[in-house]
Amino acid sequence: MSIFKNSISFFFATLFITFAHAARFNITNNCPYVVWAAAVLGGGRQLNSKESWPLDVNVGTTGGRVWARTGCNFDGSGRGSCQIGDCSGLFQCQAYGVPPNALAEFALNQYLNLDFFDISLVDGFNVPMDFSPTSNGCTKGITCTVDINGQCPAELKTPSGYCNNPCTVFKTDEYCCNSGNCGPTTFSEFFKNLCPDAYSYPKDDATSTFTCTGGTNYSVVFCP
Ligand SMILES: *[C@@H]1O[C@H](CO)[C@@H](O)[C@H](O)[C@H]1NC(C)=O
Ligand SMILES: *[C@@H]1O[C@H](CO)[C@@H](O)[C@H](O)[C@H]1NC(C)=O
Repeated sequence: MSIFKNSISFFFATLFITFAHAARFNITNNCPYVVWAAAVLGGGRQLNSKESWPLDVNVGTTGGRVWARTGCNFDGSGRGSCQIGDCSGLFQCQAYGVPPNALAEFALNQYLNLDFFDISLVDGFNVPMDFSPTSNGCTKGITCTVDINGQCPAELKTPSGYCNNPCTVFKTDEYCCNSGNCGPTTFSEFFKNLCPDAYSYPKDDATSTFTCTGGTNYSVVFCP
């Protein structure tokens, strides 16, 4: 809370939060199959092919994630499961999903009121994705549309044909980086070669984090 060092900065911070607007995330399913979009915070929405979900994300949100779930079945109370990307069996996700799943990640209105956003393959890959700003003159988006599942190394391939990250499979520090100190591996280079703008291992920040001015709107497209 060092930004609230004195009452003047507290005053301006309060003013900023009072007048800032939520960011609009337009989540679209362009896949030829049904996707159950998931968002933390935000919940979930069944998207048939070509359907969109306009989601408002609060100012100052950190740890935000959007991902695709597939092969889901839910009962009338919103309980069930998904083959891929399941979040504790809930239609309305309250927690992150089970890997493998490609992630659109974001933290809004952070340092210097910048939004930080990325696509991460640190939890593996399921459905191709584009994550792009749509307003505020911010134009650099991220896209990961290559058929990673089809080229997935045998060690990482799931029985249903998706692509795990090596941390999920081997659970070693080399891949999971729990020590906070790790580098690229042959497996991370497999992901990086196919999607150069996406996180391929936990310390891949330099080439994988993008920024826009806070207040920007975004689109997330599955199968762009
Ligand atoms: C969301 O994106 C879809 C597909 O590009 C578009 O047709 C739709 O108008 C967008 N909705 C909003 C609210 O921006
Ligand atoms: C973001 O989207 C919201 C809702 O569609 C809209 O009211 C707002 O003007 C947009 N912001 C920018 C910077 O275009």
